[in-house]
Amino acid sequence: MAIKEEIAKRRTFGIISHPDAGKTTLTEKLLLFGGAIQTAGAVKSNKIKMHARSDWMEIEKQRGISVATSVMGFNYDGMKINLLDTPGHQDFAEDTYRTLSAVDSVIMVIDCVKGVEIQTEKLMEVCRMRNTPVLCFINKLDREGRDPYDLLDEIEAKLDIKVRPLSWPISMGKTFKGVYSLFSKSLHLFVPSKSKIESDGLNIDDINDPRIDKEVGVNDAAQLREDVELIEGVYPEFNVQDYLDGKVAPVFFGSAVNNFGVKELLDSFIKLAPPPKARETEERVITPDESKFSGFVFKIHANMDPNHRNRIAFIRICSGKFERGKTYHHVRADKKIRFSNVTAFMAQEKELVDEAWPGDIVGLYDTGNLKIGDTLSEGEKGIYKGIPSFSPEIFKEVVNKDAMKTKQLEKGLSQLMEEGVAQLFTYELGSRKVVGTVGALQFEVIQHRLKHEYGASCDFMSMNLYKACWISSKDRKKLNEFVASKQRHIAKDKDGKLVFMAESRSWLTMVQDNFPEIEFHFTSEF
Ligand code: G4P
Repeated sequence: MAIKEEIAKRRTFGIISHPDAGKTTLTEKLLLFGGAIQTAGAVKSNKIKMHARSDWMEIEKQRGISVATSVMGFNYDGMKINLLDTPGHQDFAEDTYRTLSAVDSVIMVIDCVKGVEIQTEKLMEVCRMRNTPVLCFINKLDREGRDPYDLLDEIEAKLDIKVRPLSWPISMGKTFKGVYSLFSKSLHLFVPSKSKIESDGLNIDDINDPRIDKEVGVNDAAQLREDVELIEGVYPEFNVQDYLDGKVAPVFFGSAVNNFGVKELLDSFIKLAPPPKARETEERVITPDESKFSGFVFKIHANMDPNHRNRIAFIRICSGKFERGKTYHHVRADKKIRFSNVTAFMAQEKELVDEAWPGDIVGLYDTGNLKIGDTLSEGEKGIYKGIPSFSPEIFKEVVNKDAMKTKQLEKGLSQLMEEGVAQLFTYELGSRKVVGTVGALQFEVIQHRLKHEYGASCDFMSMNLYKACWISSKDRKKLNEFVASKQRHIAKDKDGKLVFMAESRSWLTMVQDNFPEIEFHFTSEF
């Protein structure tokens, strides 16, 4: 019974947004409610600003911050909440995608002035791949933003998800009065304040209640009634299952910096958001309440101290109880493995833990046995699905600058790739090594870290490549023929999977037409 209770009270989620929409601010306010921090300003943004591109101190500092804020656990209203941080900078999108594999739902923050921005669109695509439930928070209502109906239409159109407002703003910007919660039938009055802790609001079941006129004025009260009538008429009644299936995003309005609408969001979130659910391995579906432990690695963080090679592997627990010191099965390596140094992430502190439950994230100190995507279990043989690599956008060939340090370079590259900093493709012909990334920043990070942590130096030579496509075919012979005929363009990824390195979109289309028996995939999981 204990395990069922532990699962029921866990909510593991991530916040996604375009940079500057207010993710860091919202995170901080949520932690304030959870009592995990006492003062505003305690959460450091892990944004790497563009002007800091070559500022290595900055990068190193960010790595430090990103360990500290990778997972923030806190208790709220009898629930155990695990908030997983996602890097805001688009060059680290791959890291964000992987982190999203470890959450059960997300909160999406949208700036009411800017509306849906490009990074939100990309992140939403990832959520849609897994049907992750999305709850939307429209932020910065203290500013003159766009019309709320327009914003909702834009979310539906650009993010391809239905929306259902569960709260509604009363005016906006300078005349912003507050929100009416359609979900909890309560009126929340806006008082700008960065430090105040929000109260529960006025319980108002009937929208015609004259108290609304008294609180917000006759005109705004009339507008609110009109809006509520319109919403109830236009949008279908909110269906929790549709939200859980990732089909409808409930929408809340507020102002994170003013600590407004955040409590309402959190209270609604714990009622609506799903507890840990069943997950699929290559062999079967595993439910969280199964007695045997299983989990997977979604992030690896290298030690900040270059003299110590140990790393922290972040494990999402999917089933059973995880116990420190117990021997588990490392599925990919097919060997036994035991961890005595296990940390949990409560507030912004790391603390030693003895046990953890489905939905929890633990950090395991590892000396190089684990890599991203690995599964740990109590004997189960299947590897958890859902942590694919995506085709990178930028490709560069690695040129060794110091022949005496070839070994160091290879080791460094391989370890950085295991951490998921970038992807490495090795050409079948000539063993040329190509690093692929989503953004340009990673190349600088790799060069810097190779030098400082491994004593190796390399250059990167630009390559004219469009995509890396993982290839497969039902017909083994056809696949071999294809590989033989396109040998110059065939490489292997870190797991030895075959990849076709396409030079241009048009050429890829032509090759696809010419080889209909070959399947081309843009992610490593198919
Ligand atoms: P991010 O993590 O999504 O990138 O965004 P972050 O929270 O850092 O917020 C970006 C900027 O938006 C910050 O201002 C923050 O104070 C502001 N902000 C957040 N919520 C609100 C809100 O509800 N209303 C208004 N008006 N502003 C909001 P900044 O000037 O970049 O930083 P700071 O000097 O205020 O820290």
